[in-house]
Amino acid sequence: MSGKYTIILAAGKGTRMKSKLYKVLHPVCGKPMVDHVLTEVEKTQPDEVVTVVGHGAEAVEETLGDRSAYVVQETQLGTGHAVLQAEPLLGDKDGMTLIANGDTPLLTADTFEKLFAYHRDKGAAATILTAKAPDPTGYGRIIRSEIGTVQKIVEQKDATPKEAEVDEINTGVYCFDNQSLFKALHQVTNDNAQGEYYLTDVIEILKKAGAIVAAYKMTHFEESMGVNDRVALAAATRVMQTRINTAHMRNGVTLTDPSTTYIDRDVVIGADTVIEPGVQLLGRTVIGADCVIGAHSKLVNATIEDQVTVTSSTIEDAIMRKGSNIGPNSHLRPLSDIGEGAHIGNFVEVKKATIGARTKVGHLTYVGDATLGTDINVGCGVVFVNYDGVKKWHATVGDHSFVGSNANIVAPVTIADHSFIAAGSTITEDVPFHAMGIARARQTNKENFWDRTPLATDPEWNK
Ligand code: UD1
Ligand code: CA
Repeated sequence: MSGKYTIILAAGKGTRMKSKLYKVLHPVCGKPMVDHVLTEVEKTQPDEVVTVVGHGAEAVEETLGDRSAYVVQETQLGTGHAVLQAEPLLGDKDGMTLIANGDTPLLTADTFEKLFAYHRDKGAAATILTAKAPDPTGYGRIIRSEIGTVQKIVEQKDATPKEAEVDEINTGVYCFDNQSLFKALHQVTNDNAQGEYYLTDVIEILKKAGAIVAAYKMTHFEESMGVNDRVALAAATRVMQTRINTAHMRNGVTLTDPSTTYIDRDVVIGADTVIEPGVQLLGRTVIGADCVIGAHSKLVNATIEDQVTVTSSTIEDAIMRKGSNIGPNSHLRPLSDIGEGAHIGNFVEVKKATIGARTKVGHLTYVGDATLGTDINVGCGVVFVNYDGVKKWHATVGDHSFVGSNANIVAPVTIADHSFIAAGSTITEDVPFHAMGIARARQTNKENFWDRTPLATDPEWNK
């Protein structure tokens, strides 16, 4: 049976990135480049995907997991040598093999499908995905005969001045008849400017053997952009961002200023939500419908239900339930759960705490390691004192309680439903149902205190 296979090349170090991180793992809109490639490849439903790893093999395998099989290219002798490493897994298969580089994050499944269709249509042994580049520098050039048929691909460093003028480039994506590919790969030599086994040489080998070689020229060069350095990384990110933002707008999300809105690839946003300028929505953030995410907010892996308002705040690994609001200038840290209709106001930090429905924590407060019930009012400047210098402790506050301003709630402690905490109290013991906990020195007024001060005899003050 004839199958459909994909080989992703991801063994290179990416010297031009000047980075500790392996090139194909550099993220574009929150997703490693090689993951973008695999995600699009998966949409074409291949029977098997093989990723060639080398530099950073373990990190790449960890990133992609069992979505791909792997072969290791111990030394990076070139793209042809890289593909050859997949021979033990794919060499005896019948069918069509797509090859893509791990550093072309903008290519889409739609383009791959068009390449397949063209390849089948031409009955080709090899079809190259090409594009017309405004500046072809650095890419392999597509050399065609006078009647327009593809002869070979010439790398930048091996090109004659005339060949270098060609602006049709090799995107690094190809569709091959699987058997022909591996047969031809064995004939590739490293007799070239870089001393590498070029995959691109397979084209000329097949051509000379009389096989049909085709080239499918895609319309948008931009999509084929290969990222070899940080300048290209930024350019690719810009393109990806525009694509992501456009998709959200088409789905009914308002972006006040798309050019300053940074949304990662896997973020989900409901209709009629408004995203103001300078917002970053990162990781696995999910936002419901009818929300407002105010200017300069940063959300990382946040879950935001419908009708939530976030004003200039930071939310990490936390959930805000329906109709709740936060900000300006507040911070939800991991494992914070803000209940329906709850209000988190200005300069409030919440960490690993559950805030019940309709509870209000309005001003200058720290809530860490705590469970707050529903309909509670927490005054200004309250501190949930959760750390004794060694260990973190948990505090509980029951429904409908009132926590006065500037109270310290020293955990472990439980404050029952319908109870009160007097302002300024440092609470270290449990407070029972309907009670008021007050823990501060009683006020005394020293009468005629003035007379005991030097002011009493100072002529200036006694005119
Ligand atoms: C390659 C193509 C070039 C094309 C360009 C498109 C060759 C010889 N040249 O050049 O025609 O225009 O892509 O972006 O194929 N890799 C390995 N093992 C190796 C060498 C590379 O796995 O031994 C991987 C890299 O990790 C990378 C991909 O192959 O993902 C491409 O390698 P790179 O060095 O970036 O090739 P280019 O010089 O860009
Ligand atoms: Ca490249």
